[in-house]
Amino acid sequence: MRKIQMLLLVTALLMLLAVASAPALAQNAGVVNVYSARHYGAMEATFAKFTEETGIEVRLSQGTVQALLQRLEAEGTQTPADVFFSIDAGGLDLAAEKGLLQSVESAVLTEAIPEDLRDPDGYWFALSQRFRTLMVSTERVEVGAVTNYAGLADPQWKGRLCLRPATHIYTISLTASLIAEYGETDAEAIVAGWVANEPEYIDSDSRILETIAAGGCDVALTNSYYLGRILSEQPDFPVALVWANQGEAESGVHRNISGMGVTAAALNRDNAIQLIEWMATTGQAADETGIPGGNFEFPVNPTAEVNPVIAAWGEFTIDPLPLTEYGDQQEAAVALLERVGYGF
Ligand SMILES: [Fe+2]
Repeated sequence: MRKIQMLLLVTALLMLLAVASAPALAQNAGVVNVYSARHYGAMEATFAKFTEETGIEVRLSQGTVQALLQRLEAEGTQTPADVFFSIDAGGLDLAAEKGLLQSVESAVLTEAIPEDLRDPDGYWFALSQRFRTLMVSTERVEVGAVTNYAGLADPQWKGRLCLRPATHIYTISLTASLIAEYGETDAEAIVAGWVANEPEYIDSDSRILETIAAGGCDVALTNSYYLGRILSEQPDFPVALVWANQGEAESGVHRNISGMGVTAAALNRDNAIQLIEWMATTGQAADETGIPGGNFEFPVNPTAEVNPVIAAWGEFTIDPLPLTEYGDQQEAAVALLERVGYGF
């Protein structure tokens, strides 16, 4: 009799335990799953540090912004992703509009990230800023020869221009910002002018810069941090950054961001928020490990230090265009690039 009672008690206890631990198992308490458009290499040290400090393991799935968006959409509520980590504001905005992200309220994030660098409804948060601007040969281009995006349409750059193909999100978002800025007709005239200069299309910003150094082209558009990386190792690299659109009547250089949002279906919501909060505070420290604010990007957190290599580029005006415009104008940008015969 006693044995049976013991058995029943043990069984009941086991059942209770199973019930109690079921939700914890489903939530994978020590994990956050990230769909990341950033290369793992650049983020490895950052995430390792986060895990060391919080005990939360970061599991990464990588892809382009467009591929990850498609995956999130296809997986719907079944997605394993807790966080979408984008290298483009348009991608985040579209994810929010498609209902793939959820709104987050966080005093830490509100405090750490300026208002224009996060979604007004808390669907995504920028973690670093990068600027797509003019890059020129210091050997073959005179100072002041090109000062704005429209200037690359000048016939003097025929056969001397390198650009990233139309399929890349950086090209699409820059074009989207030109549409928002100048209207579709004027934006089209500018981009058609670039195409008329018969650019060499190279699908890597690093290779574009190396091509300038090697004499393959003289002017180009790339993201700022690629030059920062090179200059930190080769201070005499013969390419100079020119902040675009700095004239009095001009709007400032094109800004893009890398940033994160919590997915609508996140099972590990608390861990996801903790990761974003950590990235916006501790993770903003400038160093060589690829941390946002490091990686030669500009931190979003105004208290974070700017890497001296990029600080040397001096003060500049940033286009204040709301980052949500990049998503809104994306379709129009893709259509415009096609119309003008921009290379793929
Ligand atoms: Fe990049």
